[in-house]
Amino acid sequence: MGSNSCFSFFLLSTIIFHSRLIYEVAGDRDPLIGSQREALEIIIGVGGYTPAPAPSPLIPPEPICPPPPPPSPPPPFAPPPAKYPPNILRDYKTIQKFKQTITIDPMGVTKSWVGYNVCHKYQGFNCASRPDTGVPSVAAINFNGYNFSGPDFQIQGFVDKLLDLSIFHANSNGFNGNVPNELDVQNINFLFELDLSNNKYTGGFPMSVLGATNLTFLDIRFNSFSGPVPREVFNLDLDVLFLNNNQFNQQLPDNIGSSPAVYLTFANNQFSGTIPSSIGRAKNLLEVLFLNNFLTGCLPYEIGFSKSLTVFDASCNKLTGPIPQSFACLEQMQFLNLATNEFYGPVPEMVCKLPHMQNLSLSGNYFTEVGPECRKLIQLNRLDVSNNCISDLPNQRSEETCREFFCNPKQCPNEKSLTIVPCSKNYPSATAKFYQRSTFAATPPKSYDALSPHINFRF
Ligand SMILES: *[C@@H]1O[C@H](CO)[C@@H](O)[C@H](O)[C@H]1NC(C)=O
Ligand SMILES: *[C@@H]1O[C@H](CO)[C@@H](O)[C@H](O)[C@H]1NC(C)=O
Ligand SMILES: *[C@@H]1O[C@H](CO)[C@@H](O)[C@H](O)[C@H]1NC(C)=O
Repeated sequence: MGSNSCFSFFLLSTIIFHSRLIYEVAGDRDPLIGSQREALEIIIGVGGYTPAPAPSPLIPPEPICPPPPPPSPPPPFAPPPAKYPPNILRDYKTIQKFKQTITIDPMGVTKSWVGYNVCHKYQGFNCASRPDTGVPSVAAINFNGYNFSGPDFQIQGFVDKLLDLSIFHANSNGFNGNVPNELDVQNINFLFELDLSNNKYTGGFPMSVLGATNLTFLDIRFNSFSGPVPREVFNLDLDVLFLNNNQFNQQLPDNIGSSPAVYLTFANNQFSGTIPSSIGRAKNLLEVLFLNNFLTGCLPYEIGFSKSLTVFDASCNKLTGPIPQSFACLEQMQFLNLATNEFYGPVPEMVCKLPHMQNLSLSGNYFTEVGPECRKLIQLNRLDVSNNCISDLPNQRSEETCREFFCNPKQCPNEKSLTIVPCSKNYPSATAKFYQRSTFAATPPKSYDALSPHINFRF
């Protein structure tokens, strides 16, 4: 097995992982984008571009006459061998220019970036043929963990010049400053994945990436982006949107539920205001992390419409009110974390009965009651209600702290909505499953991995 096929195998196996991450859970929600992207991945997977042994029909054969002149000395700069197609030569030039901006390369990656054989010699690059034209060129870049940097090191002039790029992953490098508004990704038709996580970007949300309207994976976590997140990002056809660990602030746009994403992470930012009620319309959402922001107000009862949710983590905010009764409809819920907020009232028994619940964290609130079903969960070590105001349980807040809290009762704008159970007809089936759950093995949640800076996805 030559080095080419090893690399192809490596790429193929990572792409299988990738497809599994997305498609196993997302189903085939969007056959158009899905099949187009899969087609491209299969082309990447079968081995990238191998220079043809025979001359390309596009390159005219050497003229036979007039008779050859005597051999001349080689020119000072050797022209590129004719066997490399034009898009590869175009990308070669782009890469060589970019290489000069990498003055810090602790792993010596760029040592392999010599010669014209970009597709098989250059560490971090892979080639493929475009699905539409069949023209080979650089299609995938994996700089994860390379820790490249330099004073002039930036993506503009690089990513936006690789016009056939499909995947750009650059977790843990030294990209810094603002993502330029001039970054022109609009003409990269097959740009599906952009990962700029754990770099040193500052400034506002990178508006220029919104031009990449075919993106399905956008990961900008672990930078220092600040200011608001624009509503347009929730109209992109994304499967994955990781915004966690930045300094984003202001309110979440009211259209977050328009996003078709499966995984959404807002964690560890400075978002304020309420969780928008549109979250209930997020039709593919499995996991959402709001933890550790400055969110206020009450949970919208519409969350109960997000029936596919398996992970909902809004811990460490300033949320208040009771848990909406609609949470009884979250039949797939496995990890529900509302710890360290200002929630109060009784813990709804129906939430404790949810058939797949693995871990219900309600510690550090002002809950006052738990019924028999919730007590069963406490016994199973799946419900934590420590540090609340439940008088007959251990490890609760002091009476004084509780009294103080209830002296200034907080109210929700639409109290009545919190008693709506939009799935009440189906409710008995959930009870039946409860008694089978000891044999249920949960798949571990995936979005929590996004809370570690060096973990990268795909590759
Ligand atoms: C990555 O780069 C940063 C700064 O450029 C440096 O502090 C860090 O030690 C580097 N890490 C590795 C693994 O080289
Ligand atoms: C997205 O893909 C479609 C279909 O391949 C293409 O026509 C369109 O130009 C692409 N969009 C962008 C912004 O490149
Ligand atoms: C439940 O989740 C909390 C918060 O993430 C975690 O600290 C705790 O260890 C988990 N408990 C169990 C039993 O898995």
